[in-house]
Amino acid sequence: MLNLSREELVIVVALLCVGITYLASKACKRASSNEREDIPGRLGLPFIGETFSFLSAYNSTRGSYDFVTPRRLRFGRWFKTRLFGKIHIFVPNSEGARIILANDFVLFNKGYVKSLAEAAGKNSLFCVPVESHKRMRRLLSEPFSMTSPSAFITKFDKKMCARLQKLEEGGQSFKVLDFCMKMSFDGICEMLMSITEDSLLEKIWKDSIAAGEAMISIPAMIPGSRYYKGMKARRRLVETFTEIIARRRRGEESAEDFLQSMLQRDLFPASEKLDDSEIIDNMLTFIFSGQSTTATAMMWSVKFLHENKEVQDILREEQLSLSKMKPEGAPLTKEDINNMPYGWKVLKETLRMSNIVLWYPRVALQDCTIEGREIKKGWHVNIDATCVHFDPDLYKDPLKFNPQRFDETQKPYSFIPFGAGPRTCLGMYMAKLKMLIFIHRLVGGYTWTLDDLDNSLQAKELVPKLRSGCPITLKSLSKSRSEA
Ligand code: HEM
Repeated sequence: MLNLSREELVIVVALLCVGITYLASKACKRASSNEREDIPGRLGLPFIGETFSFLSAYNSTRGSYDFVTPRRLRFGRWFKTRLFGKIHIFVPNSEGARIILANDFVLFNKGYVKSLAEAAGKNSLFCVPVESHKRMRRLLSEPFSMTSPSAFITKFDKKMCARLQKLEEGGQSFKVLDFCMKMSFDGICEMLMSITEDSLLEKIWKDSIAAGEAMISIPAMIPGSRYYKGMKARRRLVETFTEIIARRRRGEESAEDFLQSMLQRDLFPASEKLDDSEIIDNMLTFIFSGQSTTATAMMWSVKFLHENKEVQDILREEQLSLSKMKPEGAPLTKEDINNMPYGWKVLKETLRMSNIVLWYPRVALQDCTIEGREIKKGWHVNIDATCVHFDPDLYKDPLKFNPQRFDETQKPYSFIPFGAGPRTCLGMYMAKLKMLIFIHRLVGGYTWTLDDLDNSLQAKELVPKLRSGCPITLKSLSKSRSEA
């Protein structure tokens, strides 16, 4: 029996009471939240939270995802953090992705980012509310659909052949990223408005880069700032596109392209057409969202193929056997594109491993749960596509570049490089076409040396790009063979 004084007894009883109350309240909370799990993580100071750590990763050559990796190691696959005053939950798995993407616009929506909305325009698909989004997507989708790509394939392929040949003849090292940025940009401008004139392309290129940079900047019109320059560039772009639309309406020019298909609806009822500012804002949106993403994916395909020679060899064999069946110099067709089963798998594996869009951000529109975890209204949930694509339960040996793994059908929401649901990437098919044409012409026509082995990433980029730009020197296959 313990021999306690009266004071000691009072302290022990008090401590016991506090302990019991604490345990009871925890048990009650757990019961009332229906066995909901707490999401671990660190919220840090109010408003600031872990913003500086995020910015440090974003500004470094390790890339923005370097913010996520150490937190995952410390807290587990699910974790929470606070960035720019908002609570963010990183959702690491395909089931979480399914719950969020299948409830897009209902339980979740994209957050409003002022700089993005102003640079892309208030009518951009990125920003419009659900009712307009549905109508606009329906009307914008047609030119991106599977039914009308033949003309695009021929034009893009011819351009690709000519430019690669010129680079090989020049014998100089060139940056794949820069090359693909220009190819991708010229391709989209031709497809949207049939623009091929160099001086006009150059003008739109410069302005769209400045306007694109304003999308991730502090939205204050301070002369000289990124935002200021970007908004001025946007104004010039709108003027240029408005003039082109006016010339088309006056009948001074016509073409078979995206813009013309929009203008053909001029006499349709309002629900069946887009007004001029909707057309312009979305043409800008396509340029912003399509150029860097596609070019970066093309760049990673070169890097991965360089590092995996056995994959390169199998791919080359397939592409050469396709070329042999065609007259010399004939451009690729839609049928050829569908006749590259290994090429498609290389493309998929490139997208899985490069994770061009690292995570997909949404905001909870009401309190809800995801896999038993409580999400409060206003919290940001980020579908961590990178984590899904490297999940060893979904992809055996996930760090290995192995196109053959796509022989098996993927589980739903486990391969999501283009998102899913009502906001699935609108340019998905076009991006795939560009990548396959590039892969075909590169691997089927050339070998190459990689002229910089540095693996560090470009700082201040949300899309992971090699800092070196992936410089290569081409050698035509016929030359390589005659030397061998
Ligand atoms: C490899 C290249 C590309 C990748 C990896 C990619 C990826 C994505 C992803 C993941 C989304 C959905 C984001 C989310 O749910 O938050 C998206 C949306 C979008 N993408 Fe792409 N994209 C690519 C190329 C393109 C191209 C070439 C275009 C157009 C020319 C384009 C236009 C769009 C548009 C307009 C949206 C918004 C759709 C909406 O909100 O309804 N993308 N993209």
